[in-house]
This record gives sequence, C-alpha cells and structure tokens, in this order.
Amino acid sequence: MITATQFRKRLMAWYGQNGRELPWRGTKDAYRIWVSEIILQQTRVEQGRSYYEAFVEQFPTVERLAEAAEDTVLKAWEGLGYYSRARNLHAAAQQIRSAGGSLPQTYQGLLQMKGVGPYTAAAIGSMAFGLKEAAVDGNVSRVLSRIFGISTPIDSPEGQKIIAEKAREILDESRPGDHNQAMMDFGAMQCVPKAPQCEGCIMADACQALRQGMVSQLPVKQKKAALRHRYLHYIYVTDGRQTLIHRRSRQDIWRGLYEPLLIETPEESSIEVLKGPIIDRLMAQPGTTLRPLTQGKRHQLTHRQLHVNFFLLTVTPQAIRSLTLPEGFRLIPIGDIHSYAYPILIDWEWLTEEQKT
Ligand code: ADE
Repeated sequence: MITATQFRKRLMAWYGQNGRELPWRGTKDAYRIWVSEIILQQTRVEQGRSYYEAFVEQFPTVERLAEAAEDTVLKAWEGLGYYSRARNLHAAAQQIRSAGGSLPQTYQGLLQMKGVGPYTAAAIGSMAFGLKEAAVDGNVSRVLSRIFGISTPIDSPEGQKIIAEKAREILDESRPGDHNQAMMDFGAMQCVPKAPQCEGCIMADACQALRQGMVSQLPVKQKKAALRHRYLHYIYVTDGRQTLIHRRSRQDIWRGLYEPLLIETPEESSIEVLKGPIIDRLMAQPGTTLRPLTQGKRHQLTHRQLHVNFFLLTVTPQAIRSLTLPEGFRLIPIGDIHSYAYPILIDWEWLTEEQKT
C-alpha cells in the first residue's frame, strides 16, 4: 500500500505537469472561488468556465451580487441548470453583506452559507484561506476507492466515513488548496469513471483496483433512486404581438424561472385532454387555433424523466385582452421574451419563426 507521503508526492508531480489552467486558479479572492465552486458543483469545468467568467464580470463583488435582482441572477445562470444554486448564491451574498461583506474564514462559518455543504466548504476554505480540510466529492471518492481498494458503497454513511478518513490522511497540509484541486483534476482527467487509461498512470503500481482487476467495478454505489416521469405540455400563446409567460414559484424544479403556459398531466395525453382555466377560456373564443409543434421531446434531470410536448395557440387580440391573469402570469411583447430566464428546453424560436411566416 502506498504511504501518504508517497501519494502526495506523486499527485503533486502529476498536477504540476497536467493540472488545468482555470480562470479561478490564479485568484485568492474568496468571492470568486466561492462562485466557481458553486458553478462546478453540478457543471463540468469546460461548460462552467465561460459562465464563471461572465458571472464575475457582471457581479464582480459580493456587494454587486447582493444588490442585483433575483431575476437578473437567474438570467445569468440560464442554461446551467440546478437553479437553486443561483438563488442560494444570491441569498448568501445578501447574508454576507449584512454581516460585514466578507466570506466567513472558518470551515464551520462557510458551512453556514446557503448552498455550501461539506465539500464546497472544504474546497473554498482550503483554496481561499489555506484551511486544512480535504474536499471529497464523487470524483475524489472514485480515486480513493480505486487506489485504496475500498469496496464499501461510497454513497453509504459507512463508505463515506472510510473515504473521508482516507482523504484526511493523505491531505497535503502544507498546501491543502493545491492538493484538493490536484485530486479533482486527477479524478476528472486520469482516473475517469469509464475506461481510465491505467497504463502509464502514476499510481498504477500502487492501485489496489488495478492490481485486483477491479477498476471497472469500483467505486461501488448503492442502488439508484427510481426515475420519476413527468408529462409537460407547453403552450405558446400569442396574438401575433404578445405572448403569455408564467413565473414558477412553487417548491419544484426551476423555481424563479419563466415558462410559457404549462399543463402537466399524470401520464401522456392527447391534445383533447389539455385543460385549465386559461386554455379553456381561450379555446372558447372565436378565431383561436391550437397547433401541435414538437411532440415527445425528452429531457433528463437527475431523478426525473421529462416528456415534453409543445403547442402553439394562436388567438385574437380581443381574446388575449379579455383574460384575467392569475398571479404569476404576464403578457409581454414578443420582442421582450429574451429579457427573462427560462429552463433550457424552452425554445422561443417557435414563436419568433412563426412571426416571420
Ligand atoms: N471541481 C470543483 N472545483 C474544482 C476546481 N477548483 N478545480 C477543478 N475541478 C473542480
């Protein structure tokens, strides 16, 4: 078994040669490091990079983020998914501003921030303040489970305890921020989930998984949560000038984002069963036509399979004017649609294309 000292030495040598140049690596600004870590919680480095750069340009300080409107922050996050990250980032910026404007400098203090769990607190703390905390996420767990031959499921409390102890034991306390980032890069670039290049790997002679022919079996995970299916029918309503949007406010996916009129059904349904106060009212008016656009589009979220259909509902200006809009709905000029943030599957080209024909 490889010793902690050997492990650090090899890891750091690998990092020196292979570590990625990332825009947040050159900074000690805790705010920027925090933003980058929140983005990277559920987004790959390649996609996250441009969002990070645009985000810190638009909101260069905690203060500027705190004073922005939530809609503006969600617009900056549009397309990244997992929007609670943006809402939490914004709420935490406001908390920090009230508490004096600087991020907490202790692990426990960082953990108090909305959206910051043990991994992110360790990552921010080690990188910004040199705290001796090991950051353990899925990538790091995979690396440790393979090299040290740990077959306890990494998503079980017992497995997590074993992995956390190992991570602490190998942590390079003289440069914890670099060590943590080296582990992340090693997991993302070398010890990848599928078909890692074990030949030539700096850990090959020490890797228990490789020695036992277990690379593809490790890490072990407990059973996955069952996929839930949801059936969404989006209806672009227009009189040629205006369109109807709705701000999602429930405790559900995409809270705070906007969308066209939505009807959700418990299973796949045909056009005839799409019912609701607004659509019923519009369908009863003369001159209304409902046309299917794309049907059966699928969109996968972590534990959800969405089945999405799109429709175009063309109405007369009188019909749209006669609507009493429930809370959360707005009629907006078609020219303003891009001022709002939408889930990635909402494609307004249907409507703008329609205007051209
Ligand atoms: N994943 C999360 N944080 C990261 C970082 N700082 N560098 C590389 N990958 C990461």
